[in-house]
Amino acid sequence: MRVVSGIQPTGDLHLGNLLGAILRWVRMQDEAAPTDQHLFFLADLHALTVEVDPAQLRANIREMAAALIASGIDPDRSILFQQSAVREHAELAWVLQCTARMGWLNRMTQFKDKSGKNKEGASVGLFAYPVLQAADVLLYQATHVPVGDDQKQHIELARDIALKFNNDFETELFTVPEPFIGGGTAARVMSLRDGSAKMSKSDPSDMSRINLTDSDEAIAQKIRKARTDPEPMPSEPAGLDGRPEAKNLVGIYAAVTGGTIESVLADHHGQGFGSFKPALTDALVALIAPLRRRLVELRGDGAEIDRILAAGADKARVLAAPTIVEAYRVLGLTR
Ligand code: TYM
Repeated sequence: MRVVSGIQPTGDLHLGNLLGAILRWVRMQDEAAPTDQHLFFLADLHALTVEVDPAQLRANIREMAAALIASGIDPDRSILFQQSAVREHAELAWVLQCTARMGWLNRMTQFKDKSGKNKEGASVGLFAYPVLQAADVLLYQATHVPVGDDQKQHIELARDIALKFNNDFETELFTVPEPFIGGGTAARVMSLRDGSAKMSKSDPSDMSRINLTDSDEAIAQKIRKARTDPEPMPSEPAGLDGRPEAKNLVGIYAAVTGGTIESVLADHHGQGFGSFKPALTDALVALIAPLRRRLVELRGDGAEIDRILAAGADKARVLAAPTIVEAYRVLGLTR
């Protein structure tokens, strides 16, 4: 098994990232067989596709690395690195841009969402973004790519690109990766203010998300203010249909406590959200507070974070190099 995944170093790590991706990365790392390999990276080249504040980006890279380590990524067992430090990502991305088709990228919903009404003003990088993401995983012959549901379409594109390249050049160079989306309730954590929007770093309202950096009081306040409805908790999952905010809070509680929607409803049905919310707050504080404390400690040692990232990049480069060499050979660029 070769597990590869990334996160953009923009803004704070939030509960959606944790449940949809990071805590699953940690579990895969912790349950790994000795021959499995895990590569996790800060997708800083992806962060260039929208407006860049260089000082902010520099700070965010360290902060996100510290947040991943605080969440349980162990640099001795996983390869943790900065995408831009391994040049092969950008190099392979170019090659794969010549394999991917305009029509495939035109179907990517994230570009439509992120460019909004201003398609003409969006960067070319924002459009080509999913091809760089394909390069990120194909470079390492990833077998499993653990991501939240919102990234599924991008991983499916990576599969299409791998298949077309292999087919066009009569090679088996690229392993076709599997998107590895969490089962249960964590694959798509929604905003606390709007059950139809996903929890996201880019939501202007901080009340919409729980951050790794939130104090216990901030978590309690956000849950207190989270949108719900006046109905009591149902006894069956079907009773959550048409109640996206209620469903989201039950889903979060299930994911955080290791339960299922059914088990949460079995314990809490008939209650109003006024009494469910304190239980949810306690569960979230129990999850977040220890990670936040570790993050604060790690922040104090920027040099150590830099050392970890540099060592990770050295290891990643060794794994990346043969893919580029072989890609250039089958393309006719080298003998
Ligand atoms: P990013 O930085 O937006 O998010 C990092 C991870 O968190 C997951 N996630 C969520 N999961 C559940 N509910 C949510 N509300 C939620 N919000 C975010 C994302 O699905 C993701 O797994 N393009 C990627 C980064 C990337 C990448 C890659 C991922 C670059 N190259 C190669 C995998 C493989 C992104 O912007 O994720």
